[in-house]
Amino acid sequence: MAYEFVLAETDGPIGIVTINRPAVLNALNPGTIAELTEALEAFDADDAIGCMILTGSERAFAAGADITQMVDAGPVEVLRDDNFSRWARLRALHKPLIAAVSGYALGGGCELALMCDLIVASESAQFGQPEVKLGIIPGAGGTQRWARVAGRTAAMEIVLTGDPVSAVEAQRLGIVNRVVPVGAHLDEARRLARTIASRPPLAVRLAKEAVNQAQETSLSAGLELERKLFYLLFASEDKREGMRAFLEKRPARFQGR
Ligand code: HXC
Repeated sequence: MAYEFVLAETDGPIGIVTINRPAVLNALNPGTIAELTEALEAFDADDAIGCMILTGSERAFAAGADITQMVDAGPVEVLRDDNFSRWARLRALHKPLIAAVSGYALGGGCELALMCDLIVASESAQFGQPEVKLGIIPGAGGTQRWARVAGRTAAMEIVLTGDPVSAVEAQRLGIVNRVVPVGAHLDEARRLARTIASRPPLAVRLAKEAVNQAQETSLSAGLELERKLFYLLFASEDKREGMRAFLEKRPARFQGR
């Protein structure tokens, strides 16, 4: 399917969505969010895809929500359009989503990366929430996700100063999985995606669900959910295949059943 603001392509079992508005450093207008959500949902529903990557250009993952579309907006319009609620659909994706980030990941662009399950960053990446400099605050999870992942202390500095942090600093703060030389972020994300896509899909799906619950619920409720999902996987053919293949010293052939 052809999109106006994003490119969608596959590389074997990997679905790759590239934000493509270079003239505005991939600023996120509602159409871009709608299209990238649609493209990722299509990959999520495709049995041939095991893992997804969201990326931008070398200069910018995304420099934030499109300021030209917000400058004259009032609260009633923002509320009526409720564009940011569409972002919540990304949280419902079952398959792992890797952000491959180079250059600017600012404002909504940083929040978009934080919504992904893993982040691979190039050394040039900058992560920040500059909203305060515009007289607003993050509106798509920035205050919450920075605080939950990096902690309250780091989150305060990020959202109160609006100044970005480097890829290396973002990794130290725990929001980035891997930092690689400039130009290597997409290849590294593909490597990681290929590894995940080679694992049995049902186990991957429930593993993602269980880890995500760790941020939503109490420890005892999370442990309970984990145990139930663990038991559930004993009903899958992939569990039988995975364990038999190990004992028979051969590669497993997973079917996603
Ligand atoms: C609209 C943007 C944009 C944005 C950049 N551009 N960011 N347009 N919305 N968020 C446009 C510029 O106007 C410019 O257009 C072109 O992209 C290139 O940008 P420059 O500023 O010329 O590049 P540079 O000097 O390299 O500076 C890069 C930058 C700067 C540091 C990233 O562009 C910048 O500060 N951008 C805004 C970042 C920001 O505040 N993001 C948060 C937005 S609020 P022209 O036509 O001049 O070439 C937000 C709220 C989220 O995200 C709420 C929930 C979703």
